[in-house]
Amino acid sequence: MQKLNDQLGREIDYLRISITDRCNLRCRYCMPAEGVENKDHQDILSYEEILKIVETGIKLGIKKVRITGGEPLVRLGVEDFISDLNRLQLDDISMTSNAVLISEKAQQLKKAGLDRINISLDTLKPEKFKKITRRDNLAEVLNGISAALNAGLDPVKLNVVVMRGVNDDELFDFVELSRKKNLSIRFIEYMPLGGEAEAEKFISTKEIKELISEKYQLLPAVSKGSGPAVYFKIEGASGKLGFISALSEHFCSSCNRLRLTADGKFKPCLASNQEVKITGINEKEIIAAYRQALKIKPACHNLNFEQQDYSRNMSQIGG
Ligand code: GTP
Ligand code: 5AD
Ligand code: SF4
Repeated sequence: MQKLNDQLGREIDYLRISITDRCNLRCRYCMPAEGVENKDHQDILSYEEILKIVETGIKLGIKKVRITGGEPLVRLGVEDFISDLNRLQLDDISMTSNAVLISEKAQQLKKAGLDRINISLDTLKPEKFKKITRRDNLAEVLNGISAALNAGLDPVKLNVVVMRGVNDDELFDFVELSRKKNLSIRFIEYMPLGGEAEAEKFISTKEIKELISEKYQLLPAVSKGSGPAVYFKIEGASGKLGFISALSEHFCSSCNRLRLTADGKFKPCLASNQEVKITGINEKEIIAAYRQALKIKPACHNLNFEQQDYSRNMSQIGG
């Protein structure tokens, strides 16, 4: 079995595929109020092209893929795309979604071969949801989470971007939710990438953990995944808690991933503006792009609130 290693010896076996830059929400930490200008359809990779890129990636050492957006469920045909991916013998097919559209699709997605899903949800309060996402869809998201659990997607994880003065008063509510439901609830450090990046809203994992520890004891745990989260649980809980310290503790030395943007570029690091255009979809051209992306993959990111310098919003990268 081939292995894809970068210049620093990190093994890259995880490809995050953004299938669209469009989204049905407008989260403040992700994009400006007016949204982001959508790419033309002709600039977006077709599913056939993506499949070719994945197929070639598998020959080189890719084993796991995550489908992201924008919001992946706004692109038509995603179920058939997953069925096609499923024929490629990957170890893991996952998705990151805001779950607004998942209620009616969850069973079909599972049947197509989706193994698991991560759902973005920063608040359990309708008014606050409206404020953060600039849309009024909390009920759909909550139904979507139930539908994902009922469909047997496993694990179902929640992504909670923690922001001071916005949702840090709900930490205990999320912990209680992990007691009742079999969800892996991950608290994510707020990153300055594309939206209203306000330094005063940043809360470190250390502080989040201290706040939770005022009431609960965090016991070490594990959860299936390929990402940077570190997991815990509270005594007697059905679900788990996770922490993603994107800024305070770089996990770059163990980075295992590459990103493919909807407009056909490899992005070797979430926080770097360097990209590699895939110039054509014959195998030779795709292999050359993979190799070039690994060659320029940075050792570490330099995300910070003081010097914000990004060419894409989160919604155009897929997180
Ligand atoms: P699994 O662990 O496989 O379930 O997935 P994941 O946590 O990698 O994926 P998800 O899309 O749910 O991402 C969760 C959060 O981690 C998001 O806020 C991402 O932006 C962030 N994240 C994922 N990969 C990276 C990375 O390489 N660098 C940084 N800084 N953040 C990342
Ligand atoms: N900081 C941290 N996480 C973010 N996400 C989107 N924007 C940001 C940000 N600025 C997360 C969302 C989504 C995942 C793909 O990325 O919560 O679940
Ligand atoms: Fe859409 Fe996700 Fe960005 Fe929210 S964070 S606007 S759901 S892409």
